[in-house]
Amino acid sequence: MDVPYYPTHEFGPLMKGLIIGGIGIVHVFLAQFAIGGGLLMCYFQWLAGSRGSQLARQFVDGYFKVLVLISFVVGAVTGVGLWLTSIQISPRTIGIMVDEFHWVWATEWTFFCLEIVAGYSFYRYSRILNDRNRLFLLATYSAAAWFSLFWINGILSWQLTPGEWVAERNVWAGFFNPSFLPSLIFRTVTSMVIAALVACIVINLIPDLSRSQREKLIAKAGHFTAPMVLMPLLGIWYMASIPADSRQWIMGGSVAMTMFFALGIGCSLLIGGYALFSLLRGGLYINVATATLLCLLGFLATAGGEFVREGVRKPYTIRTVLYSNSVTPDELAYLRRVGSVTNDPYPLLSSDEIPTDQLQLGAKVFRFQCSVCHTVQGANGLTHLTGTWTPMQLRLNVAQLQRTKPFMPPFAGTPEELEALAQWIEWHNSGSMDDWSAADSGASLTQIASWLDEVGTRPGIDLMNEPRVSGGAQ
Ligand code: HEC
Repeated sequence: MDVPYYPTHEFGPLMKGLIIGGIGIVHVFLAQFAIGGGLLMCYFQWLAGSRGSQLARQFVDGYFKVLVLISFVVGAVTGVGLWLTSIQISPRTIGIMVDEFHWVWATEWTFFCLEIVAGYSFYRYSRILNDRNRLFLLATYSAAAWFSLFWINGILSWQLTPGEWVAERNVWAGFFNPSFLPSLIFRTVTSMVIAALVACIVINLIPDLSRSQREKLIAKAGHFTAPMVLMPLLGIWYMASIPADSRQWIMGGSVAMTMFFALGIGCSLLIGGYALFSLLRGGLYINVATATLLCLLGFLATAGGEFVREGVRKPYTIRTVLYSNSVTPDELAYLRRVGSVTNDPYPLLSSDEIPTDQLQLGAKVFRFQCSVCHTVQGANGLTHLTGTWTPMQLRLNVAQLQRTKPFMPPFAGTPEELEALAQWIEWHNSGSMDDWSAADSGASLTQIASWLDEVGTRPGIDLMNEPRVSGGAQ
C-alpha cells in the first residue's frame, strides 16, 4: 500500500484548521456579496430602464465601484490565499477534489472569467452604454457569478455529504449530493441579504442625494432581504440532509459547534427582525452606522455558519473517504502494522531541539496524525488538554482516540509510535527539558497493543450508537 506523504507547514500557536477557516470566511462573505451584488444591480438597472429612474442608475454606478474594488480585489486575493494555505495544510484533500472534479473546476473557472470580463466591461463602459446594454452586461455578470457558486457549491457540499458517490464514484452523483440543493438556495438567499445590507451603506455614502432619495433607494434595496423568510425552512432542510452525527455535534455534542451555530442563527434573527420591521415596512431610515453594524452581523452569521459547516465534517475532510489528517480508512490497519511515519521522508524542522530519538519519533507522529487539529501549546493545545492526566490515562485515551472523542480519527500507528507520542506529550507537559529519560508509563507495549486491538480501526461515529461488547477496555 502506497500512502502519500507531503511536506507540512507549521503555523506556530495557530491551529491549521483555523488558518483555512479565517481566510475562508472572509472569502465566502465577499464572494456572496459579489453574487448578491450582481443580482441587486440587475434589479436597479431594470428599474432604471423600465421606469426611467435616474436615481437607480446613479446608484448602480456607485454600487458597482464598491463591488469591483472590494469583491474583485480582496475576493481574488483571499481566493488565491485559500488555495495557497489549503494545499499546505491538507494537500491530499485538495488533490482528491481536483482529481474528482477536474472539469467542474474548469467550468467554474470559465464562469469566473466571464464574470470578470462582464464586470470589467461594465466598469469601463457603463457610462456610454444605453440601458439595454447596461442590463445585458449586468445580467451576464450576475448569471456568471451565480453559476460559479453553483459549481463550487457542488464540490463543497460533497465533502460533507458525498452520498452515492462513495459507492459509485460517479462525478455527478458526488456533485448533486444530498446537501447540494439546500445549501445552494441558502447561499443564494444569504448573498441577496448581504447585497442589500451593503447597498444601505453605499446609498448613505453617495454624495448629493437628498434624504428622500436615499429613503426611496433603501426601500428598494430592502426588497432583497425578503427571501430571508425562507431561511428557517432552508435551515431545517439543510440539517435534514446532513449525517445524523454531524447534527448531534451541532445540537450540543460539541459545545463549540453549538455556540457557533447559535451565533449564526442569532445574528441572522437580528438582521431578519430589523429587515422586517424597518426595511420592508418602510418605517425606519437606516443610516450608515446602522447599515455597517448590520453588515458586521451578516459577517458574523457567515462566520458562524461556515465554521459549523467545516467543523461538522470531523473526523473527515471528505466524509467516510478521507480523515482530516489525510489518512484513509483503508490505510488505517496497514499503518497500525508498519507505522504511520516509517516512510515519512520529511525531516523535522526543529529536530535539534528534541533530545532523544524516541521524542523525535513522537514529534513526527504528532505532525502527521494530530497537527491538523491540534497545536502543542496554542489553540486546542495538547498540553492544555492532557496536562492533568496520568500516563496510563494518556496512553489509553490516545490508543482509543475515536472513543475519547468521536470527532477524532482512530489512532493510525504502531504501539511503539503511540508510546513515543505519549512520551513526547509528557515531555512537553513537564516543560520540554534538555535531557529526558523515558519515564515509566506503567503501560507496556503489549498493553497498548491490546487497547488498540480492542477499539479496532472503525471510526468513533460508528461506535457511538452500538452497545459496548465487553463494557469497555478499562
Ligand atoms: C479531526 C481533528 C482532530 C484530529 C486529527 C485529532 N484531534 Fe484530538 N481533538 C480534536 C478536538 C476538536 C478535540 C476537542 C477539544 C475540546 O474538547 O476542547 C480533541 C481533543 C483531544 C484530547 C482531549 C480529549 C478529552 O477528552 O479532553 C486529546 C488528548 C487529543 N485530542 C489528542 C489527540 C491526538 C494525540 C491526536 C493525534 C494522534 C489527535 N488528538 C488528533 C480534534 C482532533
